[in-house]
Amino acid sequence: MEPETLYRKESDMFSRKGNAARSMLGKRPNETRRVLVTVGVGIMFGFFIGVTFPSLQLTKLNVTSTLLHDFVIIGNRSTGNSTEKIRDSDNKNQVVKDVTKIWVPSNPKGAERLPPGIVAAESDYYLRRLWGTPSEDLTTKPKYLVTFTVGYDQRNNIDAAVKKFSDNFTILLFHYDGRTTEWDEFEWSKQAIHISARKQTKWWYAKRFLHPDIVAPYDYVFIWDEDLGVEHFDAEEYIKLVRKHGLEISQPGLEPSRTTTWQMTKRRNDREVHKETDERPGWCSDPHLPPCAAFVEIMAPVFSRDAWRCVWHMIQNDLVHGWGLDLALRRCVEPAHEKIGVVDAQWIVHQTVPSLGNQGQAEEGKAPWQGVRLRCRREWTMFRNRIENAEKLYYKSMGIDPSNFTGHT
Ligand SMILES: *[C@@H]1O[C@H](CO)[C@@H](O)[C@H](O)[C@H]1NC(C)=O
Ligand SMILES: *[C@@H]1O[C@H](CO)[C@@H](O)[C@H](O)[C@H]1NC(C)=O
Ligand SMILES: *[C@@H]1O[C@H](CO)[C@@H](O)[C@H](O)[C@H]1NC(C)=O
Ligand SMILES: *[C@@H]1O[C@H](CO)[C@@H](O)[C@H](O)[C@H]1NC(C)=O
Repeated sequence: MEPETLYRKESDMFSRKGNAARSMLGKRPNETRRVLVTVGVGIMFGFFIGVTFPSLQLTKLNVTSTLLHDFVIIGNRSTGNSTEKIRDSDNKNQVVKDVTKIWVPSNPKGAERLPPGIVAAESDYYLRRLWGTPSEDLTTKPKYLVTFTVGYDQRNNIDAAVKKFSDNFTILLFHYDGRTTEWDEFEWSKQAIHISARKQTKWWYAKRFLHPDIVAPYDYVFIWDEDLGVEHFDAEEYIKLVRKHGLEISQPGLEPSRTTTWQMTKRRNDREVHKETDERPGWCSDPHLPPCAAFVEIMAPVFSRDAWRCVWHMIQNDLVHGWGLDLALRRCVEPAHEKIGVVDAQWIVHQTVPSLGNQGQAEEGKAPWQGVRLRCRREWTMFRNRIENAEKLYYKSMGIDPSNFTGHT
């Protein structure tokens, strides 16, 4: 490399470092100016050395960066109480001490040492080729994601369900029975994502494989059970209604195959969506709160990207059945009674196949499903306690007495 080119390269590098120093060293204008000046002096000094002593080129980098570093420290010191500032925080210190090292506080936590241009903080479930040009891999980028937690025995039901979802959906199957390749009898299965872990629940998979940063490209995420009858359901039409009515968390109306538990999720014949209901007398402390509003069940929920980012954080790693989660979803959207609702015009039938329930274990003379049911109830209590305690701790830490305002039960 010609000395001339080498020199120019290095001085480029310095001005880039200058930029970095400027953006990192805080926002106050006069401070910035001071830093600029010192950095400028550093660069000029480097230039001077470069011009005067071409033979020093290899060591120049070190010389000038040391100088630069000193100037920056001095620049900051002159703004006031230096001891205090230098002790400030570790991160800031790193910046002060060595501006040649990258440190970007706005990067994701733990990735501060990387130049932001290389940080890929989010991912997707798009399948790529092993050859060709990456930019030409994807012919479509589905905007929605639907997941089913499945056992092979339910394949025909899932096959029917998948057909209600257009090409705009990425299909993701969570297999709780370890059988995955058999699904390739369906053409769509070859394009689907298959995740297999035995005897786990929908919420266990969701917590582990649907991290908000992984599913970030999808506008809506459907996290569905395997025993839903979808004859009267069309996913594209469903999305249209969800958008139209501003639903961040929703589910299709349920046509009860037997008596359902909640009024809220029952399908209404006379409207597109509903967001509130009358429950049995005394069930609702407030008409805007569950189970009268702000509530959908956990069998077929649909989340917007933003709502899911919040809900994912609320899912507990050990409470795998997700009981009680439905009653807490409202914490993730505001105002919940307007953004959570049931889509009546696209409805489903809950067939209540006790599939995963039968994957339990017989214990103490009880049938497997009884043990699972007991665990569900237990988890519900635990979840309720955790969230109540967390809330209490929060208000306590803020010095607020929550005992006399409503809506936080
Ligand atoms: C600088 O800060 C230290 C520690 O806060 C303090 O003890 C000292 O008095 C300050 N000096 C000046 C000049 O403000
Ligand atoms: C320089 O001092 C200011 C306070 O005057 C401080 O906020 C800033 O973090 C310091 N800069 C660095 C790089 O530590
Ligand atoms: C997929 O989404 C696009 C854009 O919203 C829409 O125009 C198209 O009709 C959708 N595909 C199907 C099959 O509905
Ligand atoms: C809560 O109740 C206390 C007394 O019980 C009262 O002093 C306080 O103003 C109340 N706070 C609110 C927000 O109503």
